[in-house]
Amino acid sequence: MRGYLGKTLTIAAVLAMSAGIARAEGSVEVLHWWTSGGEAAALNVLKQDLQKEGIGWKDMPVAGGGGEQAMTVLRARVTAGDPPTAVQMLGYDIQDWAKQGVLANLDDIAAKDGWDKVVPAALQKFSKYDGHWIAVPVDVHSTNWVWANKKLLDGLGIAQPKTWDDFVAALQKVKDAGKIPLAMGGQPWQEATMFDGVVLSVGGPDFYKKAFIDLDPATLGGPQMVEAFKRMDQLKGFVDPNFSGRDWNLATAMVIKGDAAFQMMGDWAKGEFLRANMKPGVDFMCFRTPGTEGDVTFNSDQFVMFKVGKDQQAAQNAMAEAVMSPSFQSSFNVVKGSVPARTDVPDTAFDDCGKMAMAQLKQANDKGTLLGSMAHGHANPAAVKNAIYDVVTANFNGDYDAERAAKELVKAVALAQ
Ligand code: BGC
Repeated sequence: MRGYLGKTLTIAAVLAMSAGIARAEGSVEVLHWWTSGGEAAALNVLKQDLQKEGIGWKDMPVAGGGGEQAMTVLRARVTAGDPPTAVQMLGYDIQDWAKQGVLANLDDIAAKDGWDKVVPAALQKFSKYDGHWIAVPVDVHSTNWVWANKKLLDGLGIAQPKTWDDFVAALQKVKDAGKIPLAMGGQPWQEATMFDGVVLSVGGPDFYKKAFIDLDPATLGGPQMVEAFKRMDQLKGFVDPNFSGRDWNLATAMVIKGDAAFQMMGDWAKGEFLRANMKPGVDFMCFRTPGTEGDVTFNSDQFVMFKVGKDQQAAQNAMAEAVMSPSFQSSFNVVKGSVPARTDVPDTAFDDCGKMAMAQLKQANDKGTLLGSMAHGHANPAAVKNAIYDVVTANFNGDYDAERAAKELVKAVALAQ
């Protein structure tokens, strides 16, 4: 039942907004969920690049990390026979839409611009269906990050925590000082994002893979999963009483303002710190969820191109080419907090967090520990992802203790497959 009414209104409002406004030739209509300050600033880079080529932009924003609400609006648009030109999408959702036969074929541009050689295989797995390019990767984000207000930590004599126990001790110290230790938004996708990092911290890449990618029942219900839920219980003890329903960027703002010390969130949070003119290493800190250094739970936003009329195709192709250009991949990702979706983009324009993220992505890819984010649709199709969300949320809200949550996880995943 979560957010049912809100979701219905959003869809109605968005459909009403778009009704009757025809897409001009030479313009693109783009459905996305980049509505925070940092996200909008990054999207502006694309709008401006397209504007320079004389291509107009019709914006179709639908707020909500992970894209659940955006996907609901998309279904309504496609059912009405009026898909947008391009849609921000994640992992398995892309493959689900490809199966419906409603996506454009980008093979000619991909061949002309040599995409096969520069897009990492882990992303191509989602950008191609049946051997054909149907989506354009914009970025690579990852979820096993912690963000911190450096001045607040310095003032309390807290160094960057290296282990889980260090992290818990640091959270306790902030609490004792009367500040909010952990900025959190109580929405299922945010709790799931935190869970990505927590699961990885408990059992490392093998455990994460067996649980979320192989969906092995013994692992989903085993002692390490119970431990992961216990860590979630521990973290819950450090959030403020108003966490429920809060948007992720408002939680980031609490860290920016120094009201809270830490946030466990994907690196889109960096976009908010940068928008607030904060500098990494000086005003804020970025580090991997303690216990997960060297491993990366990634998600890549891709623009999925829908089949559109002949009059729209030139603009659609121009957008695909613009997104894949090395200069765009650098300038967009510098602002967004993510890293390029091409292997041939230099890290020179990136700040220290970005340089570190690029090096870690390469390292994890080489080691075979680049893992798809469960929370952001890169480990499983939506049905399984949503089943995991429900259990994680029930645990975080106190409905299931850790033992019960692990048992429910086995059942929910089995039912969803
Ligand atoms: C997307 C990011 C976005 C975040 C919060 C994630 O699912 O991959 O690009 O910034 O949600 O909206």
